[in-house]
Amino acid sequence: MQTITLPRPDDWHLHLRDGTMLKAVLPETARHFARAIVMPNLVPPVVTLADAVAYRSRIMAALPAGMAFEPLMVLYLTEGTDPADVAAAHTSGLVKAVKLYPAGATTNSHSGVQDLGKVMPVLEKMAEIGLPLCTHGEVTDPAVDIFDREAVFIDTVLDPLRRRLPDLRLVMEHITTEEGVAYAAEGGANLAATITTHHLIINRNHILAGGIKPHYYCLPVAKREKHRLALRKAATSGSPRYFLGTDSAPHVDALKEHACGCAGCFTATNTMSLLAHVFEEEGALDQLAGFASRNGPAFYRLPVNREMIRLEKRPEPCVWPEKIVSEAGPVTVFNPGFPVHWHVVA
Ligand code: NCD
Ligand code: ZN
Repeated sequence: MQTITLPRPDDWHLHLRDGTMLKAVLPETARHFARAIVMPNLVPPVVTLADAVAYRSRIMAALPAGMAFEPLMVLYLTEGTDPADVAAAHTSGLVKAVKLYPAGATTNSHSGVQDLGKVMPVLEKMAEIGLPLCTHGEVTDPAVDIFDREAVFIDTVLDPLRRRLPDLRLVMEHITTEEGVAYAAEGGANLAATITTHHLIINRNHILAGGIKPHYYCLPVAKREKHRLALRKAATSGSPRYFLGTDSAPHVDALKEHACGCAGCFTATNTMSLLAHVFEEEGALDQLAGFASRNGPAFYRLPVNREMIRLEKRPEPCVWPEKIVSEAGPVTVFNPGFPVHWHVVA
């Protein structure tokens, strides 16, 4: 039997939500992952250090007894964010990043940034203290085609920002294009990119061909096949620039299967099995530990987890619940559409 053992992985981009949804989805992540960068796009968003401390306590209170998990908190950047609060957040050790949402780019991003000039003092402070900026890298201009929004963001926002603040440490979150892969490759030690599980598996045909599949709809939206292949090559390359950020983003089915369906794929439950499948397909199982367990801590200047997890390839396919039950309603687990034989066993 084939097995692989790797340091316990971390998720460098995760949505845990709050209240009853938090309670339902947190064990799905904590079962396999030691830590996660927890997205701050709650309603209202996690803007200040005080907000992050309170949210962190709610996460710890929702963690089932006997499970270990460390939430790495993130502040949601607004045009009113105070550089001194960001510095205090960094000093606290609880906050590991600040998140830039261009206003209107994705779920709960309306409090995000419209004018980057207004947050320049915050970004200058972050560059000075070494606190990373996580970017949702899409422009929001309605005139820009949704499939081009990442590439246009790189050219018109990201690259000018990095030229202006070369010391700013920055994570291009959930890259979905060959342009994103190429830009991250050339960025040097201050730049990294996360890649989701689902963008290694689906392209835009999965969403749109043969009927619309709302559970494959997320933002940034999956692109054409050549981009999926570029992401696979990057994730399995062994380059320290790329690491896992699942962007597991639960929404109840009623809001996904809707005339205006919410963006987000829920992959917390089966990510590690899916990644082993993908890395095996690419002939790169030996690179999985780098992608899921080592490159993220190196960028965030944290130790690699000492505990290990083991996966076994078995003749019988993995069976996951089709849905996670929350008090708010069912949440559909990402279905890759093919059998997966890599079981997480310990
Ligand atoms: C995320 C969510 O639902 O909060 N949705 C998604 O499609 N990824 C927001 C985000 O990360 O863009
Ligand atoms: Zn996200």
